[in-house]
Amino acid sequence: MPALLCLCLLQSPVQAREPDLLVGEEINETCAGCHGEYGEGGKQGAYPRIAGMPSAFLERQLHLFRDRKRPNLAMVEYVDERQMPDEDIQDIAAYLAGIELPTRLAPVDENAPGFDALARLEEAKRVLQIPRVEGDFDAGRKLYRRECASCHGADGMGDTADAVPMLAGQYTNYLKRQVTKYLDGVRIHDPSAPEDRLLAEFTEAELHDIFAYLSILDD
Ligand code: HEC
Ligand code: HEC
Repeated sequence: MPALLCLCLLQSPVQAREPDLLVGEEINETCAGCHGEYGEGGKQGAYPRIAGMPSAFLERQLHLFRDRKRPNLAMVEYVDERQMPDEDIQDIAAYLAGIELPTRLAPVDENAPGFDALARLEEAKRVLQIPRVEGDFDAGRKLYRRECASCHGADGMGDTADAVPMLAGQYTNYLKRQVTKYLDGVRIHDPSAPEDRLLAEFTEAELHDIFAYLSILDD
């Protein structure tokens, strides 16, 4: 049927590629050694949580790592051009974005018939609750709402459409380390306004209170 064939040929170039989640899951095996099986991160934020982040944000970071625009010695060999074509970046980003990490384990009766200890153990591995950091929560909440919420969300969970990462649910140590990188110009905070040095407007104590507040949002 030549007419049909012709239509297909016309359509194919404009069709966006759908991410392949199975390939993403496979790639994740190389990431899991550092970021955890479920992208939950570890070592108190030496390895950040990457699960549940907007996939466009994850893609952007992987491109930045690959293009050596965001330094990351630990990851250099994993995101090398030969190992990580654009399609792979899209697949792993979509896979990670789809992982939900609960903040607590739902109560169950372990003596009930049909209790599955192994499934329970797997479920427990996905639970991520950021340890509470002491600080002035009230001051932190006010600052967060006024200065950060418009982009990072009222609940600190980020913004999928605008590729803004969550801050609640991310390790405090990791977030603080990133502030230093933004202030030193190693990372760019707002890609739509690269000259904007938003975080430089706050004292260390103010930023600490913001992160303390964010650390209790998932309690
Ligand atoms: C050898 C350890 C290691 C491996 C393997 C690794 N990473 Fe990382 N990754 C890191 C470290 C360390 C950081 C934090 C760098 C920093 O502090 O800026 C990081 C940061 C990231 C970030 C930035 C997160 C954010 O919120 O800014 C993303 C995204 C990421 N990794 C994705 C991946 C993916 C996808 C893979 C697998 C293809 C992977 N990583 C493999 C160590 C690793
Ligand atoms: C204009 C929008 C905007 C505002 C306002 C904003 N951010 Fe961000 N923030 C972003 C974007 C976009 C990123 C991701 C940038 C990138 O690709 O590195 C980000 C990333 C971050 C990160 C790194 C997270 C990670 O996983 O790597 C931290 C920490 C952060 N912001 C803190 C703050 C704090 C604290 C405030 C309020 C004082 C704030 N931001 C206000 C847009 C914003």
